[in-house]
Amino acid sequence: MRRSSDLSPEIAEESAWWQHAVFYQVYVRSFADSNGDGVGDLDGIRSRLGYLELLGVDALWLTPFYRSPMADHGYDVSDPRDVDPLFGDLAAFDRLVADAHEHNIRVTVDLVPNHSSNQHVWFQQALASPPGSPERARYIFREGRGYDGSQPPNNWTSVFGGPAWTQVGDGQWYLHLFAPQQPDLNWENPEVRADLEHTLKFWLDRGVDGFRIDVAHGMAKPEGLPDMELRGVHAPGVLSDDAEDPRFDNDGVHEIHRMIRKVMDQYPGTMAVGEIWVKDDERFAAYVRPDELHLGFNFRLVEAGFDADGVRSAIEHSMAAVASTGTPATWTLSNHDVVRHVTRYGDGAIGVQRARAMALVELALPGVIYLYNGEELGLPNVELPDWALQDPTWERSGRTERGRDGCRVPIPWEGGVPPFGFSTTANTWLPVPNEWDGLTAEAQLEDPGSMLSLYREALEHRKSNPGFGGDELEWYGAPPGCFAFRRKGGGLICALNTSGASVPLPPGRVLLSSGPMDGDQLPPDTAVWLV
Ligand code: NOJ
Repeated sequence: MRRSSDLSPEIAEESAWWQHAVFYQVYVRSFADSNGDGVGDLDGIRSRLGYLELLGVDALWLTPFYRSPMADHGYDVSDPRDVDPLFGDLAAFDRLVADAHEHNIRVTVDLVPNHSSNQHVWFQQALASPPGSPERARYIFREGRGYDGSQPPNNWTSVFGGPAWTQVGDGQWYLHLFAPQQPDLNWENPEVRADLEHTLKFWLDRGVDGFRIDVAHGMAKPEGLPDMELRGVHAPGVLSDDAEDPRFDNDGVHEIHRMIRKVMDQYPGTMAVGEIWVKDDERFAAYVRPDELHLGFNFRLVEAGFDADGVRSAIEHSMAAVASTGTPATWTLSNHDVVRHVTRYGDGAIGVQRARAMALVELALPGVIYLYNGEELGLPNVELPDWALQDPTWERSGRTERGRDGCRVPIPWEGGVPPFGFSTTANTWLPVPNEWDGLTAEAQLEDPGSMLSLYREALEHRKSNPGFGGDELEWYGAPPGCFAFRRKGGGLICALNTSGASVPLPPGRVLLSSGPMDGDQLPPDTAVWLV
C-alpha cells in the first residue's frame, strides 16, 4: 500500500491539490549533480529542495530517471521500475520523495508507455525470436513492402527524422516513432497493459503523487497502419498535432487512459497529466474526460509568439478546450523539447523583458502552471558547438537540425566559473556558457530586479492574494497589440503590451509589473498586475 506521506497534514489532506498547482519540471540530467560525474542526479535534486521551496512551487515533474541506455536521454527506458545508476538508486529516490514531502513539495514522475528501449529485455527477446512469435507481438513488427520486402511497411517518418521503421536480420521491420533505439510497444497486447499497470503501482506504492505521461496521444495505432501525408512541417523533436496525421491521436488511445485512471483512482490524491499534442479543442477535451487523465498539457502558449492577439487566442482556446470537462487548463511557456522562451521572444535584453511580461501573463491565469527549470533564472537557449550536440535529432536529420540540447544546458547555481555549482567537474554533459555568471541563482536571489525575484514574488501573490480567485476571465477592450483580462472571481487584472508604444493602464492599483512603468502608462514589452 501507499506509504504514509510526510506532507504537513493540511497539505496532505487536499486531494484536488493539482487543480491549482504550480509544477516545476526538473530535467534531471541538468538540474544538480551530487557525485561529480557531470550529469544531474536524484541526490542533486534533493540538495536543492530548499531553493524550490523558496521559489514557491507545489510539485515537481521529474523527467525519466529509469534504467536506460540514454539514446534519448532517458526516454528510452530499459527497466521502468528501477533507477539508472547515472541518477542514483531506489534508495535515493525514496530519500528524495520523503524530503520533498517534508518541504511540502509533491513529486510526480514521467511515464513512457509508447515505447521502450531496444535494450529492454522484451525487445532483446523479440529480436531473438522468430516472426509471428509472442515475443515479437509485444512490439510492432511487420513484413516490408516490395517484392522482396525491402521497403518499409509504410511511409511513416520518425519524429527525430528519417524513416519510422528499421529492418532486422530476418527481414521484418519494427516501428519506432522516435529513434530506432525506441521501438513502439504494441498496445493491443494485454501483456503491455499489464506491465504498465505494474509500473504505475510500483511508483505509487513508493509514494509518488502523480505522473506525466509521455506521448499520451500516441500508443494506439490505426488499423492497417495507413500511409501518412508527408508534409514535414514540424520542428525536430516536437510532436505532431496535425489532425490528419495517422501516427497520433487514434481513438483507441482513450481506452488506455481509462485503464490508467482506474489504477490512479485506487490512490486518492494522485494525478496524471498527459503530453497531448492535439490542436482540435474537442479532440483534446476527450483526453480529460472524468474517467481519463486528470490534466492535459496544451502547448498553445509555447506556439504563440510575443503578440497580444496570438497570446489571447492561445488562452481562449486553451480554456475553451477544457470548458466542458470540469478540468482546469494547464499553462506552459517552455519545456525540454522547445527553444527557451527568452530566445523565442527575441533573445538578449528584449527577450528577457518579454519573458518577464509573459511570466506575469501565465501566472495570472486560472488553472495549473508548469514551469521549466531555469526559466525562473531567465536562461536563454544556448548555441552549442557541433561537438557538444547529443540530441538524436542531430544525427537522424543528417546534421541539419541541431535538436533540443540548447534548452537542456545545466542550471547555473552559484560562483563565477562554469559550471557554476551544478557539478564539481567542469566536464559537464553539456558545456555551460561563461556568460552565465550573472544568471546564477545565487546572483539573483537577493537582487529585487532579477527574474528569480519576479517569479518568487509572482508565485507568492498567486498563492495568497484573493484576486486570483475563480476560474473564469473577462476581457477588456484594449489598444491594438495589447490585451487586458480580469479574473472574474477574484478581480485581479492583467494587462500586456506587445505594441511599440506606451498605452494607458486599466483602472486599479499596481500589484506587480514585469518592468518599470512609464508614469501611469504601460510601456511596450511589459505586463502588469492590478487589483
Ligand atoms: C516527448 C518527450 O518530451 C521527448 O523529450 C521525447 O524525446 C519523446 N517524447 C520520446 O519519448
